[in-house]
Amino acid sequence: MKRRVEKVFRQLENPPDALLLANATDPFIDSSFFYLFDVPSGLFEGSVAVAFPDGALHVYSSPLEAETAHQAAKDDPSVTIHVAPTSPADPKSLERELAELLRGVSRIGLNFRELTHEWYRRLDKMRPGTTWVDASAGFRKARVTKDAAEVERIRRAAEIGSRVGREIPGWLAEGITELELAAQIEHAMMQAGASGRSFTTIVGFGPKSAEPHYYPQERRLASGDSIVCDFGAWYRRYASDITRSFHFGRHDDEMARVHTTVEAAQAAALEVIRPGVPGKEAHLAAARVIDASPWKGRFTHGLGHSVGLAVHDGYSMGPTTDDPLEEGMVVTVEPGIYLPGRGGVRIEDDILVTKNGYEFLTTTPRGYLEVEA
Ligand code: GLY
Ligand code: MN
Ligand code: MN
Repeated sequence: MKRRVEKVFRQLENPPDALLLANATDPFIDSSFFYLFDVPSGLFEGSVAVAFPDGALHVYSSPLEAETAHQAAKDDPSVTIHVAPTSPADPKSLERELAELLRGVSRIGLNFRELTHEWYRRLDKMRPGTTWVDASAGFRKARVTKDAAEVERIRRAAEIGSRVGREIPGWLAEGITELELAAQIEHAMMQAGASGRSFTTIVGFGPKSAEPHYYPQERRLASGDSIVCDFGAWYRRYASDITRSFHFGRHDDEMARVHTTVEAAQAAALEVIRPGVPGKEAHLAAARVIDASPWKGRFTHGLGHSVGLAVHDGYSMGPTTDDPLEEGMVVTVEPGIYLPGRGGVRIEDDILVTKNGYEFLTTTPRGYLEVEA
């Protein structure tokens, strides 16, 4: 964990004396807490992590996940676990311990992006006169290129998503609801070893498939419907994110051609992906294919984003992204065409950016598939 702490400090131009991350109650848990402290399970509500430029990490855990915390730290001499009592009889014990640890420290880096305002006020009251520095760019930049352990977890999350993606066509039947299909997808991911879904599963039938961030509802599958399924697995806190689109029943020539166009757009983006290429070049390669088709202007979002401890992990590729792709990034490549009131197609894969190009982490077939009603 020392290497990760040092990596965050290296990203900061004028590094503070210490970094401090504080979790509130679920879902307001700082995802970077689990970047510094690599612990596979546990909620860690109210926990605090303090890191120093020499790589030392102090974790203040509650008794509720103390055993897991000690287990995760046992072979790492850079990590010290403190179990802070939550007893109402001693609400000040964490503050006393932090005061002791941070004696003489004047500049502290916080993750402004995820720290709650309530925590900020509490810290400022505890330590009047401290200079609080926004360290969120340091966390974002450190997290965007993955180390080997992170890649292995995302790879496993992507394998789970891919396996489930291959099963979906066999579950399509006239009359099933979007919610039933979403439940089946999430159940299958957990059966395959996921600890849950990495975001709310999107399943849209017919016209609903034309809304990129739709939530599944009671709509029933009918012959002639386009289907978009966008889902992902958590595996040891790391996300995957995959979309596959299908067609059900009665042939629709236009939607078949839309699918082929999206596939070509994804292939065009992948063609340019390698370290050093600005994200916008990959986006524009896909957009050019779609804008040369009859569906010009119907690719209505960015090409993709990094995945990691969060499904949207800090880097995104859109028409104005100057930041280059780097070796070790894991990003999605997800062009789509959306025809409001009619249907949509999106194809999304997770790739690892390698020294000379990329490697697919998701492997479900991407081609046009018409499932018989
Ligand atoms: N799952 C939402 C997205 O693909 O960004
Ligand atoms: Mn997705
Ligand atoms: Mn995505």
